[in-house]
Amino acid sequence: MILSIESSCDDSSIALTEIATSKLLFHIKISQENTHSAYGGVVPEIASRLHAQALPQILAQTKAFLGGSFQALKAIAVTTEPGLSITLIEGLMMAKALALSLNLPLIGVNHLKGHIYSLFINQPKAIFPLSVLLISGGHTLIIQAQSPTQMRIIAKSMDDSFGESFDKVSKMLSLGYPGGPIIEKYASLCPPNQAAPFPLPLKHSQELAFSFSGLKNAVRLAILKAQENGVDTTQEAFIASICAGFQQRACEHLIKNITQYLQANKTHAHSIKHLCIVGGGSANMYLRAKLKTLCDSFGCELLLAPLEFCSDNAAMIGRAALEKYHNKDFTHPQDLQASPKSGASEFLP
Ligand code: KG4
Ligand code: ZN
Repeated sequence: MILSIESSCDDSSIALTEIATSKLLFHIKISQENTHSAYGGVVPEIASRLHAQALPQILAQTKAFLGGSFQALKAIAVTTEPGLSITLIEGLMMAKALALSLNLPLIGVNHLKGHIYSLFINQPKAIFPLSVLLISGGHTLIIQAQSPTQMRIIAKSMDDSFGESFDKVSKMLSLGYPGGPIIEKYASLCPPNQAAPFPLPLKHSQELAFSFSGLKNAVRLAILKAQENGVDTTQEAFIASICAGFQQRACEHLIKNITQYLQANKTHAHSIKHLCIVGGGSANMYLRAKLKTLCDSFGCELLLAPLEFCSDNAAMIGRAALEKYHNKDFTHPQDLQASPKSGASEFLP
């Protein structure tokens, strides 16, 4: 089996994946959300320190699950990019120490690829080609995945990511972190037709690209204006209306781009067969329902990961590592590096 480690942001997680069957045997995760919530976002220094505490704890639990011995392990996998450098390093150090002391091969996994493989946890075969909408706290991407090793970025955000914009709006309303589930909950409380009106990002653009900072700014101005007019902006009805209006527009923006992408790839002989959404934002039920309707209208199958594997976890890292394990794509501990920013090296045309 493969032991995989994830520490790219604010989740410390370890998983065990069976090599022959791709079965997830064990998965554990400690989230730091409650600590970061007070700051309205992830504080890297605190995140790093909390990983240093949590990773040894969950490794001990993993070892206990294995009956006190790591003998059954065949490889160690770890997220190397992209992410926060000082949190990636915590997982990387543990992975290197395990690989060296147990004399096992080491596999570096791209976190974005990990999200794509969240679809195939517990499944022996991954489906390709795939069109992927990846919406996380760090990225908003359309990826054309021809095979496990041929992945190309088709569209990306020019500024904030989808998840990040939810986090920032939540912070403006002092609702806590992560913003996604909080905003979604408040939006569901808003009666029909009461959603605050916001402009659709890149409304007149024909380009396949995302932008969320203009929408975020429009929300900021609406809150300011309401405060100037004496509105109680802590009132549930006001918050619900802002959250619903923002969520609608953010999702409409994704839908517009995906519609354009599906249309551009539709000829009488060919069309996109599988569209998947992965990453923390893919847990959004409002968005899932809209994308399902869209996919049905294009005769395309919508693939989604189970809700528990939408946000960061080591199970997806272990599943992605399986492909590399079969190809003996290992890296010597001396050479394995964290690459916080890039993430793009594996997604070249
Ligand atoms: O994939 P993920 O766990 O971490 C990164 O790789 O960044 O994604 C976290 C992001 C956060 O910005 C969070 O607010 C967002 O996903 N998110 C959501 C929802 N649940 C989490 N965004 C919108 N709706 C949700 N239900
Ligand atoms: Zn992620």
